Formats: sequence, C-alpha cells, structure tokens
Amino acid sequence: MRCCGSANAAILAGVQPARETVFDLRLGDCVEGMGELEAGSVDVVVTSPPYNLGIGYRSYGDDAGRGEFLDWCHLWAAAVRRVLRDDGSFFLNVGASPKNPFLPHELLLKLRDLFELQNTIHWIKSITVEGRDGSTVSAGHFKPINSPRFVNDCHEYLFHLTKGGGVEIDRRAVGVPYQDKSNIARWGHTGGEDRRCRGNTWFIPYKTIQSRDRERPHPATFPVELARRCLALHGKGEGTVALDPFLGIGHAALGAAEYGAAKFIGFEIDEFYYGEAQRQVRALQEEPELF
Ligand SMILES: C[S@@+](CC[C@H](N)C(=O)[O-])C[C@H]1O[C@@H](n2cnc3c(N)ncnc32)[C@H](O)[C@@H]1O
Repeated sequence: MRCCGSANAAILAGVQPARETVFDLRLGDCVEGMGELEAGSVDVVVTSPPYNLGIGYRSYGDDAGRGEFLDWCHLWAAAVRRVLRDDGSFFLNVGASPKNPFLPHELLLKLRDLFELQNTIHWIKSITVEGRDGSTVSAGHFKPINSPRFVNDCHEYLFHLTKGGGVEIDRRAVGVPYQDKSNIARWGHTGGEDRRCRGNTWFIPYKTIQSRDRERPHPATFPVELARRCLALHGKGEGTVALDPFLGIGHAALGAAEYGAAKFIGFEIDEFYYGEAQRQVRALQEEPELF
C-alpha cells in the first residue's frame, strides 16, 4: 500500500512531504511480527498498548493479573528496543483509571532496564482556561466520572523513551508562535524565527464524530495528530520509518502519512480492527481531502 502525505501537515511539521508512504500492515501478534523485522531498522515507534484496565476489545482480553501483564509488556518492549535504531524514539501512550492510578508508572518502572525516560509529555484531552477578564473557554472531550472522590480524567501520558536519553529532537517542528513577539529579537536562540518549544502539555482533542460505529469503531484510540506530532518531534524527516506494534484501527498509520514518512509498519491481532485500519489507509489514499 502506498499513500501521499498531506502537504499542509508536512509543511507545519517543517518537512517536505514524502512522495509516498509505503504501508506494511500485518494481521497477527506484534512480538512475533517484530521478530521478523531487521534489528535497528525503525526510527520512531508510536504506540498505545492495551492498558489492562478491562477495556472491551473485540478479541484481546484486557484483564490479566498485574504481574503477568507487566511481564508481557517487558516482552514486547524488548522487541521494540531490538528493532529501534540507537538514535530512535519510542513514544509510549498510557492512561490510568481511578482504580488503577499507578499503572502508567508501574509500566514505566518495569521498562527501566530497556529504556531511558527522555521526556514526559501530557496528552491533554480537555481543558478549561480562565481569562483575566473572568471569561472561560473549555475545549475538547472527556468521559465524565460520576464520583464523590475522583475528578474527571482529562489526560494520558506520552512517555518519550530512548536507548540512551540523549536523542536530539526537533522541538520547533511542533512549536508554537511567541505570545510576546519582542522575544524573537531579544533571544539569540530563536534565529529570528517566531517559533518556540511548545513544552510538554499537548492539547489534542478527539475529533467530533457523528457515529462511533462508522467513524471510530474501536474503544481506545489516540488521535491521528498525536502520532503525527511524535514523528515531527523526532524530526527525522521524509526518510522516517515508523512502527506501531498495536495498530488498532490505524491512527498511527494515518499520522505517519500526514507527516510524510517513508514507511509505516503496523501489527494488529484482531481481524476486524486490522480490516478497519486497512480501510482507513485506503480511504486516505483515495480521498486525502476528507482527512
Ligand atoms: C489501545 S489499542 C490501540 C489503538 C490505536 N492506537 C488506534 O488509535 O487505533 C491496542 C490494540 O492492541 C491490539 N492487540 C492486543 N494484543 C496484541 C498483540 N499481541 N499484537 C498486536 N496487537 C495486539 C488490540 O486488539 C487493540 O486494538
């Protein structure tokens, strides 16, 4: 499968779009699948594994014992480490629940012998900003929690893991304009460009949809923009080879195409989700203006 990257997204990311993203989507277990890939052949991994929080996936049972789950995570993360280049980036998206608040941290500690934690990014799904004039702006979506104990959960973690902790990234590719433009001339490091590092809070709302069954038939996706932004932050450009071991319905694949990556590899164990990922990639190829 091949696909043209979206010019707008690529320009935003500071990269020229690759003429074609080559897709290699495979139905099957990711540990076995990654075993077939060449060592050190992948630049960026962006993934969201099952979180063991009892999510109702179609075929995967998301309710193993905690120790068994963490051992399995270590197994697939070791496979990720093997296929990742030494200067590669592994973006691991994990959420928690009020009943399992330690899960993301336990997982991270379990992977400590495999990766350094280079950056912790907070994927903000919903936020309310209060202006000095008393006005409020609320944006994004979240699943309300009806509880006298817990506040609504409006974020997930995005851990940026690398082999040595010193991988150079392209901060300004995902940067934002200066609020105070006088900073552009005042600070030499700007190089005269109106763009600063965005920081580690990324507000990326889910797309508003009319029909879940038709438009997002999966219980636990991340937005396409989240994957695109990870690739842009890694900053390898149009030669990027990207991988998502837990493909779901293919949002990382769409993000890789939007970035203009050279190649995207994905594994998904469930036939229905795999079929949907293929359908979405094909739709992007045929009607890129709809994305
Ligand atoms: C959190 S979801 C990923 C969703 C994806 N990020 C998206 O936006 O569509 C995790 C996915 O991993 C799949 N999965 C579970 N075990 C797997 C395995 N051993 N190999 C490949 N995929 C697996 C599940 O079926 C599920 O679709």
